[in-house]
Amino acid sequence: MGKLLALALVGIVGALIGERTVSLRNRFCTSREVIPKRLPNCHLVKGIEFGSEDIEILPNGLAFVSSGLKYPGLKSFAPGKRGEILLMDLNEKNPRPTELRISRGFDLASFNPHGISTFIGEDDVVYLFVVNHPQSKSTVELFQFVEEDNSLVHLKTIRHELLQSVNNIVALSPDSFYATNDHYFTHFFMMLLEMLLGLPWSNVVYYSPKEVKEVAKGFYFANGINISPSGQYIYVADFLGHNIHVFEKHANLSLTPVKVLQFDTHIDNIVVDPYTGDLWLGCIPGGLFFFYDPEKPPGSEVFRIQDIHSEKPIVTQVYVDDGSVIQASSVAAVHTNKLFIGTIFHRALFCDL
Ligand SMILES: *[C@@H]1O[C@H](CO)[C@@H](O)[C@H](O)[C@H]1NC(C)=O
Repeated sequence: MGKLLALALVGIVGALIGERTVSLRNRFCTSREVIPKRLPNCHLVKGIEFGSEDIEILPNGLAFVSSGLKYPGLKSFAPGKRGEILLMDLNEKNPRPTELRISRGFDLASFNPHGISTFIGEDDVVYLFVVNHPQSKSTVELFQFVEEDNSLVHLKTIRHELLQSVNNIVALSPDSFYATNDHYFTHFFMMLLEMLLGLPWSNVVYYSPKEVKEVAKGFYFANGINISPSGQYIYVADFLGHNIHVFEKHANLSLTPVKVLQFDTHIDNIVVDPYTGDLWLGCIPGGLFFFYDPEKPPGSEVFRIQDIHSEKPIVTQVYVDDGSVIQASSVAAVHTNKLFIGTIFHRALFCDL
């Protein structure tokens, strides 16, 4: 009887491990082959060499780029270099990035910018929210952009126990936002374990100085987040779930699920076209890049979703690269007929659409 029980246990554990391995392989690798699909006029942006993880373009064509992300397990081509926010004027014929100067008093040496979001307030004041990871922690930095001298005035650092592992944010006002937490744990080993166990524990949190609350949960790795032009819907990318979640946003700031669009790629950031409401997704096809292999660098992929709220949203694969041009694209932002593709730790590509 003892032997039988032991055998049964071995069987159950074996089955569990087998199931885990299959589901993990599905989560970390996508099944499709990465077949390049190019756009007609693309060039690499000079001056962006160490990442362009997130890009936000103002309606007037000024683009903010967060560069130099260091994150546990991620490749960096300049591990000793601090992060920076770059500005590009997309109205120029040959836009070049310039680093935005940050006001005194801000700890620049440990600046490690990740997701960014802008909000245009009264009198056209531009607020820039930046997810920051100083010393591998998570904070949200609020800046005011001063166009006259290409600088950022640091207004405040936001920390909260519910903002434990922030990946991206979408600003709702000059002092409130939704943020995705990509992990439940903050310790590197526990983060790894959490991902290996494949637990859907990451979430979306609403923050304002008056109230902080969890508004959505059950993601494997909540990543990009953005809002519809009407302000009625919130979109969340689950990087390891390979999907986009659509939520309705209520007056009390709670979110209710509307639908989920499934993909076969790792979706990072979501950019919403302010005029058409289309979603632009920066994605990483194929296997995951946590173990960087220069012989087989991670690829890049861009999707566009039109009519997301209709019965039949139109999903178009716009750009694909196998890592020979740009590696690990994380964002695709549009302005007029240009597409600006950013990457987690590599370069940036500027294309005609
Ligand atoms: C928020 O508003 C929605 C929609 O009106 C409602 O269903 C929900 O119960 C409200 N939540 C709270 C916490 O009041």
